[in-house]
Amino acid sequence: MVNFSENISVKPRRSLLSVPAVNVRALEKISELDCDGVILDLEDSVAPDMKGKARDNLARLFADAPFGGREAIIRINPLSTTDGKADLQLVLSCLPDAVLLPKVEQPADIHAVADLLAETDAPERLKVWAMIETPFGVLNAASIADAAHTPQARLAAFVIGLNDLRKETRVPSLPGRSYLVPWMMQVVLAARAYGLDVIDSVSNDFRDIAAFEAECEQGRAMGFDGKMLIHPAQIEPANRHFAPDGAAVAEARAILAAFAKPESVELNVINMNGRMIERLHVVEAERLVAMADIIAQGKAKKT
Ligand code: COA
Ligand code: MG
Repeated sequence: MVNFSENISVKPRRSLLSVPAVNVRALEKISELDCDGVILDLEDSVAPDMKGKARDNLARLFADAPFGGREAIIRINPLSTTDGKADLQLVLSCLPDAVLLPKVEQPADIHAVADLLAETDAPERLKVWAMIETPFGVLNAASIADAAHTPQARLAAFVIGLNDLRKETRVPSLPGRSYLVPWMMQVVLAARAYGLDVIDSVSNDFRDIAAFEAECEQGRAMGFDGKMLIHPAQIEPANRHFAPDGAAVAEARAILAAFAKPESVELNVINMNGRMIERLHVVEAERLVAMADIIAQGKAKKT
């Protein structure tokens, strides 16, 4: 069978654990955690007087580089602040996989950072991610995502921040996130229109795993690639809910096999056990299979 997965670039981002950069004990745990990535936080979880100490901790952490196959993302303070500028200097010396910008509200916020990265010849693999967590961030999500059209902008993913968005809009925290869903879907749509990954917000009640599982299921149904997490107990459920479903992967493999048959070469639609499958389904089937294979390989590496 043709290996369709070879040309597909996909990265599992099911579980992105936020680790306060000031918490040395938590930073030391990274190599034991089965998350797809860590967001090393210099912003909301670090008190103003502790920002410098937090940066020192990250400098030491990156010298040890305990990340294994996990993505390492540094969330900085707004670039308009003294701390934000110092954080970006740290990013330039640590060279994580991505820098996550808080409270992005306009394309200029992305370009300001991208320009600084370009001026310092930061390697191409260092990407820019944006927190969408304010009313203007949601309203301008499409134009911010449009920044992804220039490769120099390095924009690769959106992360929704509902704690800030609730605070700014006064929409209370209700089960099902019902009144937030339209805004969340707007961000998902903007991300997809411009080929970005999009990550669901944190869930604050880390002891209520049943509620967390329901929220993962909802996030997955809304099209998110994964979830930002605050506690190690949330990793396993997030990995499970955001992984491609076993039956869907089996079906995807069957679709690829069916379209790979010589008799299918000139067909755009085929009959698969009484269901119409179109050639357009092949792209998503390739992505699912590639994702499942990468997750399986990652598991083998970490064990
Ligand atoms: N990353 C790594 N390890 C973590 C962790 C995290 N985010 N959160 C908790 N742990 C560790 C703790 O250090 C503890 O380890 P220990 O048993 O060796 O002491 C273990 O998991 C159990 O932690 P627990 O006692 O249940 O919680 P806690 O009181 O230590 O921490 C929070 C609770 C909410 C303070 C903590 O989870 C946290 O700071 N989360 C991230 C917050 C954040 O990043 N906010 C900004 C983004 S919204
Ligand atoms: Mg925030």
